[in-house]
Amino acid sequence: MKEPIIISIGGGKGGVGKSTISANIGTALSQKGFNVGFIDADLGGANLHLCLGVKRPRVGLQDFIKGNYKSLNEVAVPTLVEKSWLISGASDILELANPNFAQKQKIINNLKKLDADYILVDLGAGSSFHVTDFFAAFPYGIIVTDGLPTSIENAYGYLKNGIIRGMVRLFPGKTELQNRIKNFSDPQSKKEFTTVNDLLNHLKNDYSEETLLLKQWLHKRRSFLVLNMVKNADDIKIGTRFAEMVKKYLSINLYYIGYIMFAPEIRASIKEMRPFMLKEEPSRIRDCFEAVSQNLISITRGSV
Ligand SMILES: Nc1ncnc2c1ncn2[C@@H]1O[C@H](COP(=O)(O)OP(=O)(O)OP(=O)(O)O)[C@@H](O)[C@H]1O
Ligand SMILES: [Mg+2]
Repeated sequence: MKEPIIISIGGGKGGVGKSTISANIGTALSQKGFNVGFIDADLGGANLHLCLGVKRPRVGLQDFIKGNYKSLNEVAVPTLVEKSWLISGASDILELANPNFAQKQKIINNLKKLDADYILVDLGAGSSFHVTDFFAAFPYGIIVTDGLPTSIENAYGYLKNGIIRGMVRLFPGKTELQNRIKNFSDPQSKKEFTTVNDLLNHLKNDYSEETLLLKQWLHKRRSFLVLNMVKNADDIKIGTRFAEMVKKYLSINLYYIGYIMFAPEIRASIKEMRPFMLKEEPSRIRDCFEAVSQNLISITRGSV
C-alpha cells in the first residue's frame, strides 16, 4: 500500500472557510478517482462532519486517543462523498479539545497507516501549538484566507509559527538551538531576525550541520494558498502579493493554487449538509474548486 498524501488545511483566522474548502476539495479529488480521507483536527470546534453530511459521528478521534480503539481506521465513518471516510473530532470531552503533545503525536504517527490516496486534515482557528503541530508534521499544507488585512496577518502568523514549530521539533533536547530558533518568533525578543534566511545565516556559524537540516526541511515543504470568498478581480491579486511576502520573509514555497468566489450557494450547501461539489452541473464555483484541486494534484503528484 502506498503512503497517503497528507495535507493540513489551516489559516489562523476563524470562519474563513477552512472546513468548506476541505470538504469541497476532498469531493473534487474523489470525483477524479482518488480515495479521500478527512480528519477533523479542530478538536475544540469540530464541525467538518456536518459539511460532509454526517449528522452525529458514531465514533471519532476521542475514542482513539482514549485507547478504546487500537487503530485509527476503526474510528472512521463513511460520508456522502464516494470512496471517502471521515475521522471526526466531535466530542463532549473538554479535556480533549487541547490534546497534549503525546496525544497529537499518536494521531500524527498513525495517519500514515490509513488507506487513502489523499488525507485532508482540517484544522481549527488560531496559531497555537494545538494547530501548528499538525501544520508542522506534514510537508503539505493549504492556507486559507479571505484576503482581508486581518486574515492576511493571521495567515502569516500561522505560517510563521508553524515553521518555527517544525524547525524546533527537528532538534529534541537541543535547548540552546531551539531557543535561538524560537527567538525569531518571539516579538519580545531583542534578537529578532527579519527573515528565516537571516536566522539560518546566523545559525550556520555555530550549527552548520543543523542549519543544513533546517534548509532541507524548509525546501521539502509545499504550502498552498487558497483565497476564499473572492468578490472581484482586485481580491485575486492579494494572493500573489501574499505569496511573494511569504517567500521573502519565511523562505518557503507558497504556491498560490487558486481562489474560490464568494457565493451564497456555498453557504446554502452547508445548511443542506452536502458539499457544494456534489452538484454535478457546470458552474463558476465548480470551476474554481476544479482548478484548485487540479493544481494540488499536479504539485503533490510530481508534475511541478
Ligand atoms: N466562498 C464562500 N462563499 C460564501 N460563503 C462561504 C464561502 N466559504 C465559506 N463560506 C461560509 O462561511 C462560513 C464559515 O465557513 P467554515 O466553517 O468553512 O470556516 P472555517 O474556517 O472552517 O471556520 P472555523 O474557524 O470556525 O473552523 C460558513 O457558513 C460557510 O458556508
Ligand atoms: Mg472549520
